[in-house]
Amino acid sequence: MSKYQKPAELYDGLRLHQNENTGGCSPKVIEALAALRADQIGFYPPYESATRACAEYLGVDPDRLSLLNGLDEGIMATAVGYLRPSVGGPLPEAIIPDPAFEIFAIDTEVVGGAPVRVAPNPDFSFALDRVLAAITANTRVVFLTSPNNPTGVTTPLDAIRTIARNVPEGAIVFVDEAYFEFSGQTFIPELPQFPNVVIGRTFSKAFGLAGLRIGAMTGHPDALEPIRLAVPVYSVNIAAVAAVPAALQDFAHVENYLRQVEQSKALLYAACERLGLKYWKSAANFVLVRAGDRLEAVLSAAAARKIYLRDRSTEPGCEGCLRVAAGVVEHTRRFIAVLEEVLCAAP
Ligand SMILES: Cc1ncc(COP(=O)(O)O)c(C=O)c1O
Repeated sequence: MSKYQKPAELYDGLRLHQNENTGGCSPKVIEALAALRADQIGFYPPYESATRACAEYLGVDPDRLSLLNGLDEGIMATAVGYLRPSVGGPLPEAIIPDPAFEIFAIDTEVVGGAPVRVAPNPDFSFALDRVLAAITANTRVVFLTSPNNPTGVTTPLDAIRTIARNVPEGAIVFVDEAYFEFSGQTFIPELPQFPNVVIGRTFSKAFGLAGLRIGAMTGHPDALEPIRLAVPVYSVNIAAVAAVPAALQDFAHVENYLRQVEQSKALLYAACERLGLKYWKSAANFVLVRAGDRLEAVLSAAAARKIYLRDRSTEPGCEGCLRVAAGVVEHTRRFIAVLEEVLCAAP
């Protein structure tokens, strides 16, 4: 069984390895947290106003939205709700187009289901034919991510529609939109036509709330029901509940980060072109870069300067690749300086 290789706890330095907003959250969130009273912390948290604020942001009915302790919880709850084998029944299958966020396969295996991995196209364009060919009568979940992690490539809406029309009855298509704010592309407006699609979102990325652990899922109540049953009743804490409306009220903070992400990606692409490195244009806040046989040299030179990157070289199609967050411009410049130093040094 695959096991999640949790990144080392590297907090002394520049964290460019977990796609976080390295500029942090809005000051409005800090104010909301500071305003929490002792009695609020003493009680189990109320969810109504955070659910309403989040539903309004997503443009969905609050009845169709569940808050989560991070989208990770939604992925595990989906696995528990849909991928547990029943006694004497067939092994439930989860289709996972590679390369993918590793948690999909891990959670599938944890609950006893079978991950069905689909090999990527060399350019990471969506391998629709192979995904359709992987669907069987035992398919229970198709895990899609748009933009995808670690490639940054979006999954075409039409591919999602086609898959949703072709999965067996009782199966769902899980669209992970953790990086939605950077791409602006969402399947949410199509949910009324596709009751077998559920969407996952998170406040960990664009909003800079990863430390508070807050995400959400939306979809048709029938599709959400098995997932809701698997989410612990008070899994979202009062700090996250207080933070959500405050974060949503300061969207200017997100917009400022989004502008920096665009600038950072342009700087990174230009650096890769100067240095002759293959990269993939990203619709998210990170870029996958092929450092090839210089990968180890780049990772270790960066780590020596306390700049942390993610080695993705063992993922399908990602040989020799690292993934780097592309957010705060000053942080991106520090990474580019290391890249140039290593690659321009005499061999
Ligand atoms: C595709 C994808 N889904 C979900 C998550 C987890 O989000 P959260 O922090 O809300 O648990 C991540 C985090 O890296 C991710 O990349």
